[in-house]
Amino acid sequence: GKGNYRHFMEKELHEHPAVLGDTLRQYLDPRTLEVNLPRLPFDPARVPRITMTACGSAFLAAQVGRYWIEQLARIPVDADVASELRYRDPPLAEGGAAILVSQSGETADTMAAMKLLREKQQSILSVVNVPESSMARESDATVLTVAGPEIGVASTKAFTAQLAVLACLAIGLGRARRELTTLDEGVLTKALLEVPHKAAEVLEQDAQIKALAAEVASARDVLFLGRGALFPIAMEGALKLKEISYIHAEGYAAGEMKHGPIALIDNQVPVIALCPSGPLYEKTLSNLQEASARGGRIMAFTDAAGAPGLARFAERVIVLPEVGVFAQPILYAIPVQLLAYHVAVLKGTDVDQPRNLAKSVTVE
Ligand code: M6R
Repeated sequence: GKGNYRHFMEKELHEHPAVLGDTLRQYLDPRTLEVNLPRLPFDPARVPRITMTACGSAFLAAQVGRYWIEQLARIPVDADVASELRYRDPPLAEGGAAILVSQSGETADTMAAMKLLREKQQSILSVVNVPESSMARESDATVLTVAGPEIGVASTKAFTAQLAVLACLAIGLGRARRELTTLDEGVLTKALLEVPHKAAEVLEQDAQIKALAAEVASARDVLFLGRGALFPIAMEGALKLKEISYIHAEGYAAGEMKHGPIALIDNQVPVIALCPSGPLYEKTLSNLQEASARGGRIMAFTDAAGAPGLARFAERVIVLPEVGVFAQPILYAIPVQLLAYHVAVLKGTDVDQPRNLAKSVTVE
């Protein structure tokens, strides 16, 4: 049941810390700070290319995974939604690998993409939440997320659990390819191990996020901006908002603003920025300043080090706990999901069963 929560989605949002802890505990050892993955169906040292595919939020997790794998393991990665990949007929060399991501393990397009990938002799690894699902059964190997059943149609805890698994996978691949030293691995796994308790701290900021939701609820359009591995998280924020509050939202790479979307900006459009400190902070900040100079209402999620720069022009700055740059996408997914939840509650929509949507899309 829902326990003391109003909706399954609210309950599931509050399960982030536990689910992240349970998932990370499966694949990394807090004592040695090493990643331990199940046996992979391909040789990471030799794999020429990885194709990642999924649908919806799972695809956004895959996109974050792509940034991580390319960065840490230096393996070229292609990521495409399953409904496109299955008809794209991509040229794939024998000996390549594919990574599928799915909460349910039953999504029709992802299953069809798997069939195509198999025909093209790719070895198939799936990141799945339901161990007895078709996808888990039919893949060459599976890395399970430990999110437990997810009832709300909007994916929350399963999404961050997918990120946790993909982060471990990226580290494991990086080590296998000798791109990471033991020292690097220790820094990365330490950052990941901090995520569960930092996630709990984010949830304690519920009141602030609710106040932000009150501003967003009256908007017709909302833009979410981020750079690097936070760009897919901006898209996750937009997807969640569309899905449960029916407000039109778009997630954009902050650097793309000036190539079109900045024309939308006026004082009616909230711009939700994911702008923590790190190597891309200054770049994102200047994109936000440009939007602000055109009347945009900037609402930023950042950390203590990033706050002063944003406070000069942003209408609202929400300061999240500091976490290693590598782990930021996992932590920043939580407030954007929470924001969508509160906006939907304010609008009185059916949070757990939004119109026109099914939890698991088993038809094309
Ligand atoms: O079960 P799957 O992870 O394969 O489902 C994929 C998408 O249908 C799913 O993530 C959908 O986008 C969610 N409702 C998003 O919140």
